[in-house]
This record gives sequence, structure tokens and C-alpha cells, in this order.
Amino acid sequence: MNQSQKQEEIIVPEKEVQQLQQCLPKANFIGSKIWKYQGYWYHDNHLQNVLEFQRHFQARDTDLIIGSLPKTGTTWLKSLLFAVVNRVSYSANHHQNPLLQNHPHELVYSLETDVYNKAFVYPRPHHLNELSSPRLLSTHLPYVSLPESIQTSGCRILYITRNPLDTLVSLYYFSIKVMKNYFSTDILKMILGMFYPTPTMQDFFEAFCEDRIPFGPFFDHAVGYWKASLEHSDKVLFLKYEELKDDPTVQLKRLAEFVGMPFTSQEESDGVIQKIIEMCSIKSMKELEVNKSGVINKLFDKDSYFRKGEVGDWTHHFTPPMVERMKKLMDEKLEGTGLSYKLTS
Ligand code: A3P
Repeated sequence: MNQSQKQEEIIVPEKEVQQLQQCLPKANFIGSKIWKYQGYWYHDNHLQNVLEFQRHFQARDTDLIIGSLPKTGTTWLKSLLFAVVNRVSYSANHHQNPLLQNHPHELVYSLETDVYNKAFVYPRPHHLNELSSPRLLSTHLPYVSLPESIQTSGCRILYITRNPLDTLVSLYYFSIKVMKNYFSTDILKMILGMFYPTPTMQDFFEAFCEDRIPFGPFFDHAVGYWKASLEHSDKVLFLKYEELKDDPTVQLKRLAEFVGMPFTSQEESDGVIQKIIEMCSIKSMKELEVNKSGVINKLFDKDSYFRKGEVGDWTHHFTPPMVERMKKLMDEKLEGTGLSYKLTS
């Protein structure tokens, strides 16, 4: 079977996606349409990818899959996971470490946005079969929508979440940049962009509070993985961005143990943990040439994945009533779950 036959085989027909869309609830997210599928929102172009991913992905028992909502620390976790798993082959700061020559998203593939995205050229699904174990992958899908083989196989999931206010600020800056890029790709889009009002932080805030964000609702997403981590602690590791910032050593040890590669006491005394933390810090990542220019999947500037990387940046962006509203929402949505977020450092 040649490559194009393999690719054809995995494409969910557009007609089928269109028929599905006709039956799904529809909403607007910052000027673009989103559809609610299995309780969560997806952009037009993502829906097909999600179906592809759900139908065709075959998990291996050894897979390590990062779960997250966009802007909650996915890139950071990708670099940490890669560094931990490959630490014997490439010591931190060793000049041949792939993390020094590749953006973290090029080392840990996003399943529905890269692999099962027919609009983008790499990496196509058949490449997944060629990856050696353990495969490092990622997804923004909620726990309930994960392909069956992820749920039933022995693969492990590392979920990261972040307080909603910082996530929202991060989403705002990232999205504005993506929109600017989109409207500058050709003359027609440039003209279109002139009539397109730049969305405000208030627009994003409303969408978030009304549970209308891509891959959201935010709290349902986090609670889904939170409950799974309580029920199956060997299957799902639940990480918080703020805890990683507060005590990266403790969290990195948790991560290494979870993936079955705990740090030895020799490694600890050799400072291996500290070297990984340093190599994957936002300061180091930002300074790498490979992360400074170029794009991922045509639209996403590599450097836009590394902005401030702080806890509490939201304090510069929201009015007291907005903060109150979010806190109230957080209390309501998390009541009785045992999940909580730290808002400031
Ligand atoms: P800010 O926009 O608040 O700075 P994601 O990877 O899920 O898209 O999340 C992006 C957010 O994580 C951005 O947050 C980005 O700056 C931050 N980030 C990326 N790499 C990081 C790192 N190594 N350490 C801490 N934060 C990081």
C-alpha cells in the first residue's frame, strides 16, 4: 500500500462531518463558529480531526499522552516529559539534546491538531506507527472523548491544568497573534482583516464564562481528568501549572515515577533534576534559536508558545467585578470535587 492510499483510508469524509454539524449545537467564539460535540466545543476544522483521531488512533500500552486545555502549560510539560524520558540518551544541556534543536511541539506530537489534521503536511498518522516506544503524544480532548484504546490500554496520561484567569490571559494573547498571522497570509485575507474588529479581553472573558471556548468548558475538562486521576492514579497523573512553578523538583519526581523512570539517588546527587528544570525553564527555552522564529503548522509562531510564563499575570488584566465573577464561577463548578486553583504566586 502506498502512502496516498494509506492517507485516503483514514480520512473521514467531509460530507459526514457536514451532516454531523447539522445536528450539533453551534456557537460563536471570537468571530468564528464552534460546534458542541460530546459536550465540548470545537472549531469547524477541528471536528474532522477529532473524528479521525477517535476512529483511527491505536494506543500502545507504552504510550505517554499529555492531556491539557490550550494555554495551560502544554509546551512546558512536553519539554519536561521529553527531557525525563530521554535523559539517559541525551543529558540535559548536552548539545545533541533534541530539545535544543526542536520546538517541544515538534518532539511531542499533538494528536488532533497535528497528526490527524489533513490540512497540515506533517506528521501524518502512518508516521505514528514508525515511532519507537514510548511514544510521547498530546491531546486537548476531554477525558470522555478520548479514543477507546487510550482508555482501555495500559497507556498513561499526564494532565496539566492552570488557574482559569491566567489561562484566559494567555489564550487572549495567543489568539490575537494567530489572527494577525492569518490575516496577513494573502491579499484577500488582508482586506478581510480590515473589516474584522480585533476582539477584546472582555470578549474572551464572556466566552469563557459562558462556557464557549474551544475544547472547553474549562472546568468540565479539568474535573473530568481530575476524577479519572482519583479513580485510576496509575493511569492519570494530574499536574497543576502553579505547583510546577512553586516546586518543580517535587513535581518532576512525581512525573518521573509516574512514567516508570524514577530518578536514582545518583542522578539526584548529580543534579540531573535541576539540569532538566533549568533546560526546560521558559528563560532557557526562549533563548533557543529554534524557538525564536518559524511557525508550527503554518499559523502558529514558535515564539508565541513562550510568553511570560508567570502565575498571576491576570492581576494586570481584569477588573475587580470580572475577578469576582470568575471566582464565583470557579466555586460553583468545583464545589464538591476537591479540585482547587491557586490564583497568585
Ligand atoms: P503565558 O501566555 O501566560 O506566558 P500552552 O503550552 O498550553 O500553549 O501554554 C502556553 C503558556 O505556557 C504561556 O503562558 C507560556 O508562556 C507558558 N510556558 C511555555 N513554556 C513555559 C515554561 N518552560 N515554563 C513556564 N511557562 C511556560
